[in-house]
Amino acid sequence: MLKVKPVAPERLPELLRRMPKAELHMHIEGSLEPELMFALAQRNGLTLPYPDVEALRSAYVFDNLQSFLDIYHAGTLVLRTEQDFYDMAHAYLQRSAADNVLHAEIFFDTQTHTGHGVSAEVVISGLHRACVDAGTELGISTGLILCFLRHLSEREAFECLEQVLPQRDLLLGIGLASSEMGHPPEKFARVFARARALGFRLVAHAGEEGPPAYIWSALDVLKVERIDHGVQAVQDASLMARLAHDRIPLTVCPLSNLKLRVVPTLAEHRLGQLLEAGIVATVNSDDPAYFGGYVNQNFTQTFAALGLTAQHAWQLARNSFEASFIDEAQKRQYLDQLQACFETFA
Ligand code: ADE
Ligand code: ZN
Repeated sequence: MLKVKPVAPERLPELLRRMPKAELHMHIEGSLEPELMFALAQRNGLTLPYPDVEALRSAYVFDNLQSFLDIYHAGTLVLRTEQDFYDMAHAYLQRSAADNVLHAEIFFDTQTHTGHGVSAEVVISGLHRACVDAGTELGISTGLILCFLRHLSEREAFECLEQVLPQRDLLLGIGLASSEMGHPPEKFARVFARARALGFRLVAHAGEEGPPAYIWSALDVLKVERIDHGVQAVQDASLMARLAHDRIPLTVCPLSNLKLRVVPTLAEHRLGQLLEAGIVATVNSDDPAYFGGYVNQNFTQTFAALGLTAQHAWQLARNSFEASFIDEAQKRQYLDQLQACFETFA
């Protein structure tokens, strides 16, 4: 393990901003900023139930995951055309490049949009075109991960999977999102088995609000390769040992956990404990337009609250590339860039 030279606390935010990183847990619909939401509403002849951007932003106060999901779904109503999905993803990728994100694995869902009369084909085509352009314009590599909505049925997840198969080659993986409590991973055992047989990489949200048992079943029933959130694992010592031993990454989202009241304050966040236990934890933004920050804000605010160090920064950035689904040669290149950043920073 690289022994990182100590960095003075006042210089740590600069290091966190500058270090190369991958983002592995963000929902593209959660990057739709109020300004773009109003612009898309106008372009599509729709009226938002808020007079202006400030009024909309001030509605972003949540009690829990469900109270957020209700507002989030209302925001997706402005997305109607391929160009809308392109513009949303293009904005996120530009914003992320400014945070020195070299690689982004982007969650999206089609069930929300097909429920509004927008086809899966429109959604995927717009997102994919933005990813291709980001590769050439910004040098960012990307992957698209389709999340099933777990509050809907297994049958609807199967239908969703069938709908996207014509564009299968544009997709990296399958995930599971939306209301966690009462919708355990095993509800989707058969559709995840089908996705696995089709060669998709698999991830699932588990242990955000839900119990450690949901993390166990995401691993053992769905056979996912990464757990999204997973912070409730701290309640179960044998699960912590399993995650560390099998090097199952957790894509942790500290500002999301704060805004959705999974933790009362950032100072009580367990990111440090997860790292101390040897778990491959990463830092991500989840829904940056709603939770008060993109990935670098998650890093700087969490490091300030927990008193984490440059050694932790290096570990988290390294974990982000290790936990990603990029090929080994590309991974090596990104890790070399990370090493060069830390060497020149000192
Ligand atoms: N969809 C968007 N953000 C989510 C989150 N934090 N948990 C579950 N589903 C989501
Ligand atoms: Zn999420």
